[in-house]
Amino acid sequence: MNSFAPIPRAGAAQPEVNGRRDLFARARNPFWLAPMAGITDVVFRRLMDEMQAGVLVSELVSAKGLLFNSTKTRTMTEVHENPGAPVGVQLFGESAEDIITAACGLSREAVDFIDINLGCPVKKVVKKGSGAALMRDPAHLEKYLTRIRRSIDHPLTVKMRTGWSDDELTIHECVAAAESAGCEWVAIHGRTRAQGYEGRADWDLIADVARKAHIPIIGNGDIRSARQARDRLLESGVDAVMIGRAALRNPWLFRECLGQDTGHRSPFTLLSRYRELLADFYDARNTLLRVRKYATWLAFGYPGAAAFRRGMFECHTQAAVMDLAREFFRRAEQFPPPTFEDSEAFMMGGHG
Ligand SMILES: Cc1cc2nc3c(=O)[nH]c(=O)nc-3n(C[C@H](O)[C@H](O)[C@H](O)COP(=O)(O)O)c2cc1C
Repeated sequence: MNSFAPIPRAGAAQPEVNGRRDLFARARNPFWLAPMAGITDVVFRRLMDEMQAGVLVSELVSAKGLLFNSTKTRTMTEVHENPGAPVGVQLFGESAEDIITAACGLSREAVDFIDINLGCPVKKVVKKGSGAALMRDPAHLEKYLTRIRRSIDHPLTVKMRTGWSDDELTIHECVAAAESAGCEWVAIHGRTRAQGYEGRADWDLIADVARKAHIPIIGNGDIRSARQARDRLLESGVDAVMIGRAALRNPWLFRECLGQDTGHRSPFTLLSRYRELLADFYDARNTLLRVRKYATWLAFGYPGAAAFRRGMFECHTQAAVMDLAREFFRRAEQFPPPTFEDSEAFMMGGHG
């Protein structure tokens, strides 16, 4: 089931469900930002909040890292003030106890939900029994999630793949496990762990899961444009869609999905806003590194983007970055906004 009707805004009076406010009903809209390691930090989430993403999720955070109280890890769980959309922290870890202790240390006020990563394909993570490895044994998964669910105050959600490999497509069993454990929703990146980022996300399988599920299903994988996002939402019957890589190249995407007028879109103005937000949070070096990286994503698809990218990495001050970007995007204005084609390979790796 889904409807394209606006979903009630976060913060509005919501019914209590089983003693909790219904998290899904608090989503601002059905177009959500996917978690991305090294990207969806507090600053990027704030920027995407300003761009009207429906739900925001942190990058994956090691439960163990939080237990060791590493400053770097704790920084990943920061939440900006007064978000317009629910914000979740995504944790990973083999041990339910570690997840519980880590979640209990996170503010119930700031963090709206805890999301568990069941999709990370990276060797270092699956070798320790976390990420996608947890999909290999749905009976164990149910116990693991139930234990977490009963021991934390935050609502619990999960993000998974379709299974370990084509021979181990455990998605139906894993969604059933999440349902019985009391999870609020399941987000599905429609690839197996074995696929990595190759091939195509299997939206037929996602649609099949959505038909059978009793909790909201969030579809994810390969959405490149607002039109695709709306089509996927309507055709697959999922309750919301998550968008990752396309939002890096086109941060106006969420507004486009909502049919909002995005007016005169200036990548340079957006980059300036991002730099300002970064500078409020990070030191000069971290701000420089992040703003430089983001400038190259915004430039993708415009003529001269490769040379711009090379030039960016020779900029060693924020002023130099902004000067080069101002000039590049001024020239880019004569071209239509670039599209993100299905055939293009872009960021073919990640933690989910
Ligand atoms: C650079 C990068 C980092 C990622 N990090 C995470 C992560 O920390 N947690 C997670 O669940 N998924 C992570 N993912 C997977 C995305 O959330 C998403 O499932 C995947 O990119 C497919 O969606 P897309 O085609 O819209 O990008 C990452 C993906 C990328 C490209």
